This record gives sequence, C-alpha cells and structure tokens, in this order.
Amino acid sequence: MSCLASRTTLLVLFLLLSRGALQNQARELRCQCVKVISHGISTALIASVDFIPEGPHCIRPEVILTRKDGKQFCLNTTMPWVQRVIQRFSKRSNL
Ligand SMILES: *[C@@H]1O[C@H](CO)[C@@H](O)[C@H](O)[C@H]1NC(C)=O
Repeated sequence: MSCLASRTTLLVLFLLLSRGALQNQARELRCQCVKVISHGISTALIASVDFIPEGPHCIRPEVILTRKDGKQFCLNTTMPWVQRVIQRFSKRSNL
C-alpha cells in the first residue's frame, strides 16, 4: 500500500518537473522582439546591428539595433533602409 503511494508521489513529482522543463524551453524558444520599428534611425547614432536569422525560436528573422546611448530597437526587416543598415553595420568576420 505504502509502496503504491510513493510510486504515485514519484509520478506526480516527475510530471511537475517535466512540465517545468517544458516551460523553460518555451521561454527560450521565442522571438527577441516584442515590437519592431519601421521608421529610420540616424546612422550617426547606431553603435551596432545584430541580425538573427529565423529558426525554431522565431519564425521571422530579427534585426536588433543598438544605439550609441545603449537603447535597443528591433527593426522591420522588410524596410529597404534596414537592409542597408544590416549590410553596413553587421559584424562580419570575413571583411
Ligand atoms: C514590416 O513592415 C511591413 C510593411 O509596412 C508590414 O507589412 C509588416 O507587418 C512589418 N513587419 C513587422 C514584423 O511588423
């Protein structure tokens, strides 16, 4: 009897743990950007631009711009000026 009870306890613990693990995974597997901006930012203010290709974490590619004052923005990748900014500011090792 007590053997069955402890097995049930183990099963409940296991279910709780695996649910927690799934929730952690879901938190990592998501887009970085909550909202994107489409208006331009003066290139004089841009410190760096990070391009994150689409993948299992996010169905769309994301561009995160860091301004020289430390503020970060997500850019709308369909904007032509954003394409230019990516080419100019993305960190590439093979230049
Ligand atoms: C980017 O801009 C286009 C055109 O204005 C718009 O249709 C699209 O929804 C925007 N993308 C995002 C992620 O907001």
